[in-house]
Formats: sequence, C-alpha cells, structure tokens
Amino acid sequence: PTGLTSSARRVLQQNWTGSCTVPSPGLYPHQWSWDSAFIAIGSRHISPRRAQRELETLLAAQWGDGRIPHIVFNPAVPPAAYFPGPDFWRSATAGAVAGAPRHTETSGIVQPPVHALACLLVHRADPRSSARHGFLARAYPRLAAWHRYLGRARDLGGGGLVSVVHPWEPGMDNSPCWDAPLARVAPAPPGTFRRADLDHGAASDRPTDLDYGRYVRLAADYRDGGYADHTAGSAFLVEDPGVNALLIASEHALAEIAALLGADAAPHRTRAADLTAALVDRLWDPAAGLFLCRDLHGGGPGRDLHGGGPVRDLHGGGPARDLHGGGPVREFGAAGLLPLLVPGLPGDIAAALVRTACGDHFGLGRTARLVPSYDLLGPAFDPARYWRGPAWFNVNWLLERGLRLHGEPERADALRTAVLETAVTSGFAEYVDPYTGEARGTRDFSWTAALALDLAV
Ligand code: DGY
Repeated sequence: PTGLTSSARRVLQQNWTGSCTVPSPGLYPHQWSWDSAFIAIGSRHISPRRAQRELETLLAAQWGDGRIPHIVFNPAVPPAAYFPGPDFWRSATAGAVAGAPRHTETSGIVQPPVHALACLLVHRADPRSSARHGFLARAYPRLAAWHRYLGRARDLGGGGLVSVVHPWEPGMDNSPCWDAPLARVAPAPPGTFRRADLDHGAASDRPTDLDYGRYVRLAADYRDGGYADHTAGSAFLVEDPGVNALLIASEHALAEIAALLGADAAPHRTRAADLTAALVDRLWDPAAGLFLCRDLHGGGPGRDLHGGGPVRDLHGGGPARDLHGGGPVREFGAAGLLPLLVPGLPGDIAAALVRTACGDHFGLGRTARLVPSYDLLGPAFDPARYWRGPAWFNVNWLLERGLRLHGEPERADALRTAVLETAVTSGFAEYVDPYTGEARGTRDFSWTAALALDLAV
C-alpha cells in the first residue's frame, strides 16, 4: 500500500531512544525483549547498524544465569509511567543470586526466545557491517547461554520442553488458555498496586483487574523466591507451544550462526531435533489438529496422558510434588499454530496445522481478515480484548513465514497482503479486530510497523 514504507519508518524513528526502540512511548515506555527482536527484524531494512544495537542493548542486560529479562528499564522514565516498574522487580537485589546485572534495572521473567532468529536476519541484511562490528561473534555466546538457561532451568515438566512461570512470559498475557491454570492463583488485593496501563488504553481492550491481581501475585512470589526456577514452585506452570516453537526456530538459527563463525553447529542441530520430538510428543493433539498448551499442575491425580517424565520436586527439599506430566489445556490458542515455523516438523503435522488455520476456528483466508489470537468459535472469544481474540501482527508474520516454509506460497502471499493493508489502515495498531481489521490497543506500535516493513521490502 502507498505510504507504508515511509510511515513505518516514521513510527520506528519516533520510538527509537538512541539505544533501543520502545514498543509504544505511552503504554510501554521501556525496552521489551521479544518486541526488540521483532523490531530489529524490520529496522534492519532502515539501518542494519541500528538493528544490531537494538539487540546488543537487550543482550547487555542478560543475567549471569543466562536469562534475558522481559523488560530492560530506562532510568530516565518516571516511575509512575509503567507498572510493575523497577521498584517492584528489584532485580539487582532480589535477582542477585541468579546474576542480575548491577548496572541496569530489569524485570526477572522472560519472553519467547526469538532473538537468535532476529540476530541471524539482522546479520543477513548487511553481512559486511555485521562482520566489521563483530556482531555475531559477540551475540553468539550470549544467545547460546540464553538457550542453555531455558533448557536447563526451565525444563520443569521433565519432558524436554521449556515451561513458563507467568502468563507474561509467553507474551499472550490474558489468553483464555491461561484461564484454568490462573484460576488457582490467589490475586493480590486490588488496593496494593496501581495499574498504569489504563492511563493509555481503553479498559475494554486490556486485561481485567482480576487478571492483574494474579499477574502481580505470581511475579511477587517469583521475586520473593529470588527468581530461582527449581525452588520457586510457581503456582502457574505451563508448557506453551509458541515459546517452544520459537526456541526451535532460534536453535536452527543458532546452528547457522555457529557455522558462519566457524564453530560447531552440530549440537544446535541435535538440540533442535530433540526439542521438535518433545514438542510433538507432549503437545501435539491429532484430534484437535493443533498443538495444545500443557498445564503442569493440571490433569488431576494419576492422570498421565503422554507417559509423563521424571517427577520434579518444585519445592526444593519440601514434599515431592507429583506432577504426572500435567494435562492439556483444551482451548484453541494461536500459539498452537506457531510450530508451523519449525523446519523439520513432520509433513503430516504441518499439513494438519494449515487445515486448522484455514478452518472455522481461525478462519485464515475465509472468515477472518487476519488470524485471531484465540478460537473464533471459543466461548471466551472477544474481538477487542488483547489476547482473547484480536489479531496480532507478530503472530501473523510468523504464520506467513511458516506457510512459506511448508510449501504454501499462495496462502502466504494472501496473508502478506492482508497484513500490509491492515497495518496501514489501522495506523499500525497494536492489535485489530480479526474480522474487520478495526484498530485496538495503542497505535504506532513498533513491531506492527517493523514487521509490515519487513514484508513490504
Ligand atoms: C504489559 O505491561 O501489558 C505487558 O504485556 C507485560 O509485559
């Protein structure tokens, strides 16, 4: 569409701080982890050097245990502008044992590991500038440590997949997939915190106060346990297909990065293959034609749906907790389609995912303009409320890539056209009504501009 490139550039320019790009100056005034990865994928077309710096700023905030925090705080932003801010997370003190940086305030949870993929794509935009600045050589050990953290500290179900300990970690905060696992969490009392997000967004587009009470409780408990994974025993413990699919795609990218640097790519390829087998084994549901989330505290006593794995003691020395491998969350969330992004996914599963994306639940190329975040037919579907139905541009960008990877160029072309048109008509909205494309959330949202730019050039 006319004007897309120049207006996307304007958004990315406005939201650039000099060392990173904020998702949105009002609603999200700091650096967010997976946002920065998607932003760099687009901004590499404007300035490869700026895209490198975006990722380097994030990687510089990595913790000693390898985790990449979901927010890196900008000390120049007033504390009241965002909640929960540095005073809440207290990374330097509460995260001391886990090796939180002393020079930078960050959160203590993580977001989906799309960074190695972003680093590879940024490198490819200008390999000479990348080599001149030693971009990959500096990023590689940090990315490898990040993946090691996820593999070692976060395999809390014992079956080889990464678990998330907070609904902000998979990035799809209030997805109906979390309704059952979150129902067990006692919310923090309403008067104990003040939401800043409602200063910038319509309440009907955002999570509810009850959701926030639970988000706060989970984050505070994790913090008070020193951000330790094996001993924290989070009340929320889920294996998410989106997080794991992005890790696999990034592990493949890490293999390519290793090869470019003359390092050994084989361990990354083996790890990607092992993760793919675990993803299929634990989360694929042939009857649904979709990958389902696994609630590690769900499933009920004695229920062992996939043979389970070694039982972990999540309370570190307390009475052993018998997880029995948990149980599947029977909801159609868009994260369940994201394994389409995985190279080496068995062909019959990729074909089934395409059928599901194009079926009644997600409406791709039929009833929906863009793929919704949640089941169009689901009881909890809401076309306006954040991750409970609206279509998001990163999800649609990832699916466009997955369709191309698995031999569906026509469907990919049609989705690309829809993404580009909707990005422009919605004013680069944070998310849109999946049927009408009407803008929801904030506008001039950085990853919307970045990913539209990436598909346009
Ligand atoms: C927010 O602030 O709404 C984010 O999604 C949490 O990272």
